Amino acid sequence: MVEVGFGGGQALAEFAATHPSWQCVGIELYQPGIGALTLQCEARGLDNVWFVEDNVRLVLPSWPAASVAFVAIYFPDPWPKARHHKRRLVQPSFVREIVRVLEPGGRLALATDWEHYAEQMLAVCDAAPALVNEAGAGCFSLPAAAPRPATRFEQRGLALGHDIRDLLYRKRVDNDNAGHTPPS
Ligand SMILES: C[S@@+](CC[C@H](N)C(=O)[O-])C[C@H]1O[C@@H](n2cnc3c(N)ncnc32)[C@H](O)[C@@H]1O
Repeated sequence: MVEVGFGGGQALAEFAATHPSWQCVGIELYQPGIGALTLQCEARGLDNVWFVEDNVRLVLPSWPAASVAFVAIYFPDPWPKARHHKRRLVQPSFVREIVRVLEPGGRLALATDWEHYAEQMLAVCDAAPALVNEAGAGCFSLPAAAPRPATRFEQRGLALGHDIRDLLYRKRVDNDNAGHTPPS
């Protein structure tokens, strides 16, 4: 699995601890976050966590297709001002790259406390032909469907009175109905 922008690493360390047979990779630019993750791995004796200190937009294109079973993007930078929306990570080109690295049947989980960004995530991911919204098109996911530990930025959002929205997608396998009407 890969977590994009793991921040303090709470979710990644927890996932690795509860999935010891998985190889867990975090991609993060923020050095103190990488330090925090490293300390958690040492404290918990985790030997299935790797990190890449780089911009995910530069990292993913060098990864093989269909090589990841699960991609998590929790509370990415919201860039709330309209003039900054173009800086948001979850854009059609980035989602295409995620779809490429996901194996068929692999899952993409996202969460945010910013309503406008949540709507953007929903629109962009629902529009990706290879992704199936596990909650149904146009719907956010119930937290129980995509369990994850609380992260620092989730707690910050809750303290601000924001609602949390989760999204969960599955990459189609070849025999999935791709939403097209079959020829009669
Ligand atoms: C708002 S924080 C959320 C951190 C964590 N997921 C959480 O929920 O607490 C977003 C994180 O994404 C990282 N980030 C932003 N853009 C990135 C990029 N292009 N590549 C890798 N990491 C990125 C930032 O450094 C930051 O740590």
